[in-house]
Amino acid sequence: MPQTEFFPFESERYQSDFEGRHGTDLSGSGGRPLRLVDLEDLKPGTIARLSEEGWGYPPVPGTEALRAGIAVQYPGASPENVLVTVGAAEANLIATTGLVAPGDRIAAMVPHYLQIHGIARNLGATVDEIPLRPDRGWALDLDVLDRAVGEKTKLIAICSPNNPTGRVLDTAERAAVIAAADRVGAWILSDEVYTGLERDAGAETASLWGDYDKVVAVGSLSKALGLPGARIGWLVAPRAALQLAWRRHEYAVISAGSFDMAVAEVAFDPAVRPALVARARGFLASGFDKVAALVARHPNRLSVTEPQATSLCFIGLGAGVGGADFARRLREERDTLVMPGSVFGGQDFDTDGFVRITHAVAEDRLERGLAAIEALLN
Ligand SMILES: Cc1ncc(COP(=O)(O)O)c(C=O)c1O
Repeated sequence: MPQTEFFPFESERYQSDFEGRHGTDLSGSGGRPLRLVDLEDLKPGTIARLSEEGWGYPPVPGTEALRAGIAVQYPGASPENVLVTVGAAEANLIATTGLVAPGDRIAAMVPHYLQIHGIARNLGATVDEIPLRPDRGWALDLDVLDRAVGEKTKLIAICSPNNPTGRVLDTAERAAVIAAADRVGAWILSDEVYTGLERDAGAETASLWGDYDKVVAVGSLSKALGLPGARIGWLVAPRAALQLAWRRHEYAVISAGSFDMAVAEVAFDPAVRPALVARARGFLASGFDKVAALVARHPNRLSVTEPQATSLCFIGLGAGVGGADFARRLREERDTLVMPGSVFGGQDFDTDGFVRITHAVAEDRLERGLAAIEALLN
């Protein structure tokens, strides 16, 4: 029977509707974007080289140089394991449509960006949710994980570092996810776009790639590498699974843009990538303290778990306050845009008691946004 109901992608829909229309915007997730001149500083000659680039059709799976640059980040991967996509958004779409069929089940953590959930539901699959526990610092509920993954589960959707909570799966949680997938032969679709935005300046979050043979890892230029507008993402997958995604990539977009891939090659230069990650991490250094200070002034109203990674804070608003209504009033009364928590909740896990903000914006913007939140609270 054809599937008739269409589930929109609520978080992107919210941004489409309201982004760019408010004086103070704390709704983004991409950090502070780079300019071409910043890349020129890091790799002199970039502008001259890009000016000479012919804008022909690029290789459909991505240029050899870019696929090789990406593969280096994933131990054991070769360029043949890499498909360059139009953002991680396309990677999530073509991986999910390649691996999930109508009538299948997927297990997916919530709260989450919910792209994979929506795609699976629109395909006619059923989503079993695995909650992150707010009372345990957004740890994964391992008992529910075990119950959520059954014989019909084709795919487990993971997002670590997590949007919207900033939580990174710990060693036991990673092992539990892999054990659950292995028990039923399911794929793990690991959305790792926030890798590199760890707040403790230590090593980058290890990919799930290489820990289990049925992993598709998804990455992007959008977050730690500061180039969301380049619209370059990728997936790293075993070759057979990569082919499933590649065939769908041909239908959807043929290939990513040639200019964007040339920019991405610069970002993956071994001398440039570490500098981009250091730059992005620099923006994470002090903003959260301001958010924590706001929460500390209203201990009976607000709560927040310090994110381990990302610039994102998922702020609890306390009993009886709805995040959708709070976000609407911030827009209408304070000209301030935040993300309502409800767009990150699932079918069973109500996250309307939260709002998501970024703390990695310019200091004056963050202060204006936090002042607006405080004024509305008061
Ligand atoms: C978890 C997650 N996955 C994927 C994406 C899409 O990333 P891209 O801009 O690379 O398409 C986002 C964007 O915010 C995200 O938060």
